[in-house]
Amino acid sequence: MTDLRSYIREIPDYPKPGILFRDITPLLADAEALNHAIEAMAAPFLDAGVEIVAAAEARGFIFGTPLAMKLGAGFVPIRKPGKLPFDLHSFAYELEYGTDELQIHVDGIRPGQKVLIVDDLLATGGTIEACLRLLEKCDAKIVGCSFLIHLEDLGGEARMEPYDIHAVLKYGGDDREAE
Ligand code: PRP
Ligand code: MG
Repeated sequence: MTDLRSYIREIPDYPKPGILFRDITPLLADAEALNHAIEAMAAPFLDAGVEIVAAAEARGFIFGTPLAMKLGAGFVPIRKPGKLPFDLHSFAYELEYGTDELQIHVDGIRPGQKVLIVDDLLATGGTIEACLRLLEKCDAKIVGCSFLIHLEDLGGEARMEPYDIHAVLKYGGDDREAE
């Protein structure tokens, strides 16, 4: 069994003092760890009838496409402004300083299609909440959200209700793996 936690590099004070950055690049660079991570992110949803995996750029794309292939689903990108060429749904959300915005093609998902949302990390939940609101605008049937890492102390889970979330690695007061 691959110890995925040992492939997450911790960088203190990045990108600013007081932040402990969880760097996934050592995991991505190791064939066995990467494969194990994809398998573990997909496992709870193998029988969920997922038709589309949706993920936000950039790190969401890394995991979203292989998960879609593993689940026999299509992939729909959620992007920052200025990147998608067709008609769009948009959702603006607050950051610590300023705002950001994510967009999806209006015809990316057909009403009622079963969608799994994927990202590398759940922190404050701002990114995934924006994804949820965009998918609701598409009338998607959201089956859940799959993350590699959940930073449990940052309040993201509360913003996900009522949807199911799954995370392979959980970091918080009581660090543990969910496999
Ligand atoms: C990171 C990460 C998640 C998000 C989690 O993305 O990939 O998408 O932050 O944080 P949150 O729960 O507080 O929203 P980021 O926007 O830094 O950019 P990237 O994916 O393009 O690297
Ligand atoms: Mg991201």
